[in-house]
Amino acid sequence: MEKKAIRNFSIIAHIDHGKSTLADRILELTNTVEKREMQNQILDSMAIERERGITIKLNSVRLKYHAKNGEDFIFHLIDTPGHVDFSYEVSRSLAACEGAILVVDATQGVEAQTLANVYLALENDLEIIPVINKVDLPSADVERTKQEIEQVIGLDCQDAPLISAKTGLNVEDVLEAIINKIPSPQNADNNAPLRALIFDNYYDPYLGVVMSVRVREGRLKVGDKIKLMATEAVYEVTEVGIKTPKVVKTGFLEAGEVGWVAASIKTIKDIHVGDTITLAENPASKPLEGYKKIKPMVYSGFYPLDTTKYPDFKEALEKIELSDSALVYEPETSQALGFGFRVGFLGLLHMEVIQERLEREYNLDLIATAPSVIYRLTLTNGEVIEIDNPAKMPNSQTIAKIEEPFVLVKIMTPEEHVGDLMQLCQNKLGVYRDLEVVDDQRRILIYEMPLAEIIFDFFNKLKSISKGYASFEYDLIGYRVSNLVKLDILLNSDLVDAFSMIVNKKFAYQRGQVLTKKLKTLLPRQNFEVPIQAAIGNKVIARETIKAYRKDVIWKLHAADISRKKKLFEKQKAGKKRMKEIGNVEVPQEAFIAVLKLD
Ligand code: GTP
Repeated sequence: MEKKAIRNFSIIAHIDHGKSTLADRILELTNTVEKREMQNQILDSMAIERERGITIKLNSVRLKYHAKNGEDFIFHLIDTPGHVDFSYEVSRSLAACEGAILVVDATQGVEAQTLANVYLALENDLEIIPVINKVDLPSADVERTKQEIEQVIGLDCQDAPLISAKTGLNVEDVLEAIINKIPSPQNADNNAPLRALIFDNYYDPYLGVVMSVRVREGRLKVGDKIKLMATEAVYEVTEVGIKTPKVVKTGFLEAGEVGWVAASIKTIKDIHVGDTITLAENPASKPLEGYKKIKPMVYSGFYPLDTTKYPDFKEALEKIELSDSALVYEPETSQALGFGFRVGFLGLLHMEVIQERLEREYNLDLIATAPSVIYRLTLTNGEVIEIDNPAKMPNSQTIAKIEEPFVLVKIMTPEEHVGDLMQLCQNKLGVYRDLEVVDDQRRILIYEMPLAEIIFDFFNKLKSISKGYASFEYDLIGYRVSNLVKLDILLNSDLVDAFSMIVNKKFAYQRGQVLTKKLKTLLPRQNFEVPIQAAIGNKVIARETIKAYRKDVIWKLHAADISRKKKLFEKQKAGKKRMKEIGNVEVPQEAFIAVLKLD
């Protein structure tokens, strides 16, 4: 294939600005899939996902485009997730491209993740094409959006396509801009030693690990002996192909192309996203610049509700890790919850997504404990340890100091919410740094804040205060000494390790009180009285009591009212599903989540 006809690109955007809708329109316009077929296809692949318990992601698609100048082009559209938690994933998709389409919603303007994604694209030296979306909406303000893009990001918007991804208006301009602005990989050399970047993986029961790759140099074909440069593992290629988005076998891939490779790889550990594939017989001297291994920021204990599912759970984690190299985990036991894993995440959304994937794709029912950051403890004997689980906090007598991670938070907001957001940041122990003026209406508020406070319901509060208009992003800036204590919860006098948390002393009393009150509303009555206590060390700081059952609820109903009775039974049954027996008290999953939302 002529390399000058190839364009490799991603679409980047703040969440909800219309990335997926634009991708759909592009698929239609290039006749890659019919409107009806497309939906079917997406549904089909989800069904297969469930059936086989694997993930088929629409991660890269090859499109053919017949341009206005009469020439034919091949596009590789590489999918990226939109949320800030996945900036790691975005960055690896971008490393496989030469350009990025930046979608900005004309009713919202530039937002925090618009900026974060632009920085990632710039780090990868990509050509960025700004596209202004949702111009069909009456509240669209094209001029202001253009101004913001020019002032905040510094991209020229004179020729930016003004589109409606929903109606399809001017979407063709985007395709023309891709041809005219994004460079082709024309310098990619087919004859150089093979170097192909692995930017994604999934597991297929028949093919083994299927790697999504961008061939930078050289050629790759069925029968080749390939070497994975990081692990030095050698395999013989069984299938090579592209996605259209149907999986199509092509037998080979050349420099500049994007596609997939299978080599009957069953040893999941051999494959790392970011690694370089070369040929065993004529290896490249140096791997491509990979991705740095990033450290998770948030940890949570995941436990299967049904303890016999532990091996399945372990296998599911291994498979998810294939396509998500930011995921880390190690076995953990909890007195309350039994055997499980401590899992590390990039942020709260990442945690939710992984939990959902484990439950949906692998049919597991899981209990997740309250997320925790990594605390650094200096003990009185001089030893420094890190803990990612509050339950592991040693006796306070042996601790000389505790440090916690701090982040620099940048909040982009309409001017009228600045006051309330500053109050929120102060309540979250934030230290004010700066207030930047974007234009006459928008501000960027900058604070330093403990990461743990962002985990505690920051996002929801930010959204409700700003009526959804503010957005934020954060970067780790280092560890700082804080006045922290471990807060324990006792049910029926038994300490429930899964409820323990580390909190700033300032909040300990209040959180203890709120949590005991909340647990009282969430825990079902038992046939005995259950005291709920919050304690710091041996000192109980709050207490509530759940009274014992008095009457069977059923007797409250009229004996003839069978359908209501049935409903009540069903309700009780549904409620039972997510219960965990702790000591002799039944605790619903919501109770573990409640720990997150305490004020
Ligand atoms: P994430 O995948 O969640 O990051 O969001 P996204 O950026 O892919 O946004 P998505 O395409 O899901 O669009 C978000 C919402 O905006 C959806 O309800 C779309 O229907 C709507 N939307 C997208 N483009 C347009 C547009 O041009 N006009 C209008 N009126 N609505 C649009």
